[in-house]
Amino acid sequence: MNALSRLLSETDRRQHATLRGRVRRRFLAPGFYLLAPIDEQALVGYTPPPDMISIDSLLENNRAWSQSMTSGRPDYFRQLAKQQSPKFLWIGCADSRVPANEVVGLMPGELFVHRNVANLVYPSDLNCLSVVQFAVGVLKVEHIIVCGHYGCGGVKAAMSMQHHGLIDSWLSKIKDLYVRNHDSLDSVADEEARSDRLCELNVVEQVEALSRTAIVQDAWFSGQSVAIHGWIYGLKDGLINDLGVRVDRLDQVPEHYRFER
Ligand code: CO
Repeated sequence: MNALSRLLSETDRRQHATLRGRVRRRFLAPGFYLLAPIDEQALVGYTPPPDMISIDSLLENNRAWSQSMTSGRPDYFRQLAKQQSPKFLWIGCADSRVPANEVVGLMPGELFVHRNVANLVYPSDLNCLSVVQFAVGVLKVEHIIVCGHYGCGGVKAAMSMQHHGLIDSWLSKIKDLYVRNHDSLDSVADEEARSDRLCELNVVEQVEALSRTAIVQDAWFSGQSVAIHGWIYGLKDGLINDLGVRVDRLDQVPEHYRFER
C-alpha cells in the first residue's frame, strides 16, 4: 500500500475542514489519530483544532482509546483496576496546556496528580493536603514534583493590580511573593522574563511549603524516602527545566519550621 503520511498543524483549520468530510478517524495515541480516507490510502498524524472538537467526539475518542489500550493486552484495565502504585505525585497548574502524564510520558497508574491554578500549596487547603497525605502516607510515593510552567496566567494575574474576582484570593500567595522579591524582579527589564522568573520562584516557594507540612516531615521521621522536586515546564518547547531545589531531609528545612517529636 502506498501510504501517504502527512502531519497537520493544530491550527490548520482549512485543511481540517477539507479532510474531515472524506476521512474517518481511528485513535492511535493521545493527540494522534489514524485518518483513513474511504480508500484507506493515507496515514495522517493529526490533532483537531480545539474549536472543532464536539462533546460527542470525546466519548467517541474514549471508546477508541479504551480499545487501543487493550489491543494486545486484553487484561490491561482489569489489572489496573485492582490497585495503583504510583511512585510519583505531581502537583501542577490546572492549565490545559500542561497535561501531567503526557509531558513525562507516564501511563495510567504511574502518576498521582493534583492540579490547581498556579500549582499552589496552602497549609489550609484540605484538597491539596489530602492528596499529599494519601500519596505519601498510603501510596508511599517516593517523589513529589511541583511543576509550574512559564507563562502562567495565574502568576501574571498576581503581578497585576487588576481585580479578577475570587481568584485574587487564591493567588494572594503569589502576590506576597512578588512583593517580597520586588527589587530583584524589577531589575529584569523584559516583562515576560520577569513573570517567568516569578513562575520559578513560585515553584521553589511551594516546594518549601510542602517540606514544612507535618505529612512530609512525619514520613521523613519514620524513615520513609520522599524527595520533593521543583520543576518548570516550557509551553513554547514542551521541555521541563529542573530548578534544582530537591528537598529530601528534615535538616534542609529551616529549624523553626521543623515539628518537634
Ligand atoms: Co498556570
